[in-house]
Amino acid sequence: MSLVVGEIVLNRELVSQHFLMHVKLPVSWATPQPGQFVMVRVRDRRDILLRRPLSIYAFDRDETGLVIELLYRIAGKGTFALSRQKAGEHLEILGPLGHGFDIFPEMKKIVLLAGGIGVVPLAFLASHYMKLPTGDHLEIIGYIGAKSAGHLVGVDKLKEVCTEVKISTDDGSRDYHGFVTELLADDIESFIDGDSIIYACGPSPMMRRLAEVLKACLDAGKGKPIPCQISVEERMACGVGACLGCVIHVKAIGDKTQYKRVCQDGPIFDIRDIIWR
Ligand SMILES: Cc1cc2nc3c(=O)[nH]c(=O)nc-3n(C[C@H](O)[C@H](O)[C@H](O)COP(=O)(O)OP(=O)(O)OC[C@H]3O[C@@H](n4cnc5c(N)ncnc54)[C@H](O)[C@@H]3O)c2cc1C
Ligand code: FES
Repeated sequence: MSLVVGEIVLNRELVSQHFLMHVKLPVSWATPQPGQFVMVRVRDRRDILLRRPLSIYAFDRDETGLVIELLYRIAGKGTFALSRQKAGEHLEILGPLGHGFDIFPEMKKIVLLAGGIGVVPLAFLASHYMKLPTGDHLEIIGYIGAKSAGHLVGVDKLKEVCTEVKISTDDGSRDYHGFVTELLADDIESFIDGDSIIYACGPSPMMRRLAEVLKACLDAGKGKPIPCQISVEERMACGVGACLGCVIHVKAIGDKTQYKRVCQDGPIFDIRDIIWR
């Protein structure tokens, strides 16, 4: 992990309020793993002191350095300031941070469940799986949902790296009409064979509903528990485990529970360890 100054190569609005950014980093920057994130800050904005966490969408390395891709939604002051930056301007980048997703090369089906901007770490993960020696034999199925067709981002990227992509919109303006968790729930029995793993990232209600779908499947005695890892989003201040601003409550051994720092112990957790608020 290192704190560096990166040069913006591209910062383009893809759909309303959602931007794709490419940032060039020095060659010394560590190679990121899928699920890891960076803390980003616009250098000359003294009114925005805290860096903001953003997942890594993709990266490309050559002998001159590394270009990371970020995909972000304007949520408030920090991401709005990012959206105003132009190619050639500079950002402070701390990373790569956190623990990435566990990789299971022996699995046959990789299932991705993305809610909105949650597509970011999952697209990186899918491209990582695709490049494995076993990648040719993998079935990678992406489920992606958004409020409406106009809010969908990352579908083209998912199509590049998935065998199949299934889309839902809350208002029915594209493909399945309803929540993406229900689209997945319709297919869940095809993933209980012990050869599948689900990875998810999205808003908290989506993740909570996914936990219910998995539990219902198990309670109904349908096959083995499907392994499931999720990327958790919490507000972060330091990003490196020092401030305890990002702790969540998780299950521990037996009936015990414990607090974990999303930035350092996560952001990837087993869905069955989460204690939902
Ligand atoms: C590990 C991690 C990876 C992330 N990856 C991405 C990504 O790839 N793309 C992307 O667009 N966003 C991502 N986020 C969310 C992003 O960090 C927040 O949207 C951003 O920090 C908001 O900052 P702001 O100054 O624009 O808004 P603020 O003014 O700080 O907040 C605006 C609103 O967003 C809410 N908010 C702030 N931070 C978070 C958060 N971490 N999770 C949920 N709600 C939040 C606030 O409660 C408030 O309602 C990620 C968050 C984490 C923890
Ligand atoms: S953000 Fe400071 S401990 Fe996680």
